[in-house]
Amino acid sequence: MKNITIAIDGFSSTGKSTVAKQIAKHLGYVYVDSGAMYRAVTYYAMTHGFINTNNFNVDGLIANLDDITISFKFNPTLGFAEVYLNNINIEKDIRTLEVSKFVSRVAEISEVRQKLVEQQQQMGNSGGVVMDGRDIGTVVFPDAELKLFMTASAETRAKRRYAELLERGERVTYQDVLKNVEERDYIDTNREDSPLIKAKDAIQIDNSNMSLQEQFDEILKLVNRTL
Ligand code: C5P
Repeated sequence: MKNITIAIDGFSSTGKSTVAKQIAKHLGYVYVDSGAMYRAVTYYAMTHGFINTNNFNVDGLIANLDDITISFKFNPTLGFAEVYLNNINIEKDIRTLEVSKFVSRVAEISEVRQKLVEQQQQMGNSGGVVMDGRDIGTVVFPDAELKLFMTASAETRAKRRYAELLERGERVTYQDVLKNVEERDYIDTNREDSPLIKAKDAIQIDNSNMSLQEQFDEILKLVNRTL
């Protein structure tokens, strides 16, 4: 059986990572959450004074990009790889609404994208990878054997993300989460460098009314057709 590359793109909180992780586990593939890498750079920018509500020192962040090392380490208890920034586990720190508020602005910077895309391509260069994000099928792996584009209504996505944040103990309002999902969609689809668009050869899956099991079955069917 050949090892293929599976690229999963789509809007925020479409549940890409949940199903991507399951598919990767089932196939014995590596799963890479590219959004976590943009979140890691954002977290770095926030904790080093380059970005806050009133100020964004883009040049300062760009000048310090070489100081940022992102890695993933598999956590056998959780069953997936956690993200590390300069060897410190930041898996929990990057999932907050605070990071979500700034991440799309950091992801607009071409120098940031260049650095992360290069690393993503290295991680997937021998195949057997499931990677999710916004530009995986269009920029990172334009030759991926299977490309999926996940969608769901903004309300459905905000509800999912809201439930997720509450479960993690964050004190947020549904309105704030919806606003963030809509803002990120806007910035991600309208930025100049690598905007979020469906690759011509991607298969669109609207999962607004699909259970996780249904999504898994549907994707596995597509994988088996590709292998
Ligand atoms: O996937 P997640 O929602 O965690 O991604 C956070 C943000 O990172 C996105 O809203 C987007 O701005 C950026 N991103 C990106 N390209 C990717 C993955 C994520 O620009 N491949």
